[in-house]
Amino acid sequence: MALELKAPRGTGDVLPGDSYKWQWVEQMARETAASFGFREVRFPTFEYTELFERGMGDTTDVVQKEMYTFLDKGERSITLRPEGTASVARVCLEHGLFGGLLPLKLFYLISAFRYEKPQAGRFREFHQFGAELYGSASPVADKEVIELAGSFLQKLQIKDAVLHINSIGCPECRKTYHDALRTYFESRSVDLCGTCQDRLKRNPMRILDCKSPVCKEIASSAPLILDYICNDCREHFESLKQGLTQDGIVFQVDPRIVRGLDYYTRTVFEFTDPQSGLALAGGGRYDGLVRELDPKMQICGLGFAAGIERLISVLEQNGKFVPSAGPDLYLASMGEAAVRFCGALAMRCRAAGWKTETDLMGRSLKAQMKYADKLNAAFTVVVGEDEIASGMLVLRNMRDGTRTEVKAEELPVRLKELLVE
Ligand code: HAM
Repeated sequence: MALELKAPRGTGDVLPGDSYKWQWVEQMARETAASFGFREVRFPTFEYTELFERGMGDTTDVVQKEMYTFLDKGERSITLRPEGTASVARVCLEHGLFGGLLPLKLFYLISAFRYEKPQAGRFREFHQFGAELYGSASPVADKEVIELAGSFLQKLQIKDAVLHINSIGCPECRKTYHDALRTYFESRSVDLCGTCQDRLKRNPMRILDCKSPVCKEIASSAPLILDYICNDCREHFESLKQGLTQDGIVFQVDPRIVRGLDYYTRTVFEFTDPQSGLALAGGGRYDGLVRELDPKMQICGLGFAAGIERLISVLEQNGKFVPSAGPDLYLASMGEAAVRFCGALAMRCRAAGWKTETDLMGRSLKAQMKYADKLNAAFTVVVGEDEIASGMLVLRNMRDGTRTEVKAEELPVRLKELLVE
């Protein structure tokens, strides 16, 4: 049977003509994170399955339906990370990072895996820029994390994303809310999907983010959490709203946002793209996650993650990308000796920081110049027997056609002067 030369469904390749877009978005992520004092953390693509089951909650869609889980050769259950938050909490617990300076502020750029139905903006392998902040219970920290996500979008020049915020309370106030939800959903329980019938008993809030159309329709009239939150949670939420308003951050309170993961407490938020309605970034507070993973540790946390594929798609639609520049210099060669001369010269130019290319195909001079033009090279030099003998080269500016005579050994320095001009 012929080999199927296709990437698996829901995954994608980044081609050389597009990789600069990814590099730029990642660079903006790193710069924004650094400006808020977040440092990078890296962790494995897979973890033991229990981490995600315990961390994200075993009644969530992600855990129940979307995880890539398998037994490894040692018969341990392994899962490809569906997100970064539980892994980062594991990293901090394993390496004692909560014992260091607080608040602890970490960011990551990762691939993540969810077995979802592929559609616009939804992939089975996707990428996230995420940030997590530990150790502050103050609403000022919630504001800071929301502002980090917002600043990142601003830096990308995505100015029309809409910020939605909500509070989903604490385990205490959620008890009353769960009762209200049970009463509401019980009257329609026969119409709910099988998974949600089970959720009705174990965790009725998860019915609110079921993707089945019937469950969605039923959930649209369910009681709202904001009507049930306790005074402390309400104060926290009011203080966050005041802080955002003071900083001039525009937001909408959306009492229907509950987020699809169990670890959230109090603040939840999403930045959505008004055109597609898709969430570009989402996050919130999770004061119980660390204790869930290690009952001896009580440390609050919060964070967000943004989907890189979705951001790139918005930026492409807005025409925000400028194709990457070509090489600074193309060294064209005529004859064997010139190939060797250009090879050595190219190494010196690269060591000086110039993007430099030479002929690797044995092409004619005409074909080499055509190639340099297609690459969009800023300068070219043609090297033949005369240039090797005299050590004098003619540097041609490909934009305006001007020519400058330079000594071969001075080329890297002269190039600097000309490129900066
Ligand atoms: P999430 O809302 O599941 O949250 O994902 C965050 C972002 O990742 C989404 O807003 C979306 O842009 C992107 N995303 C999620 N699933 C897909 C997919 N299948 N295809 C493409 N993009 C996707 C979390 O993952 C939490 N860990 C965020 C967080 C960090 N909360 C606190 N700290």
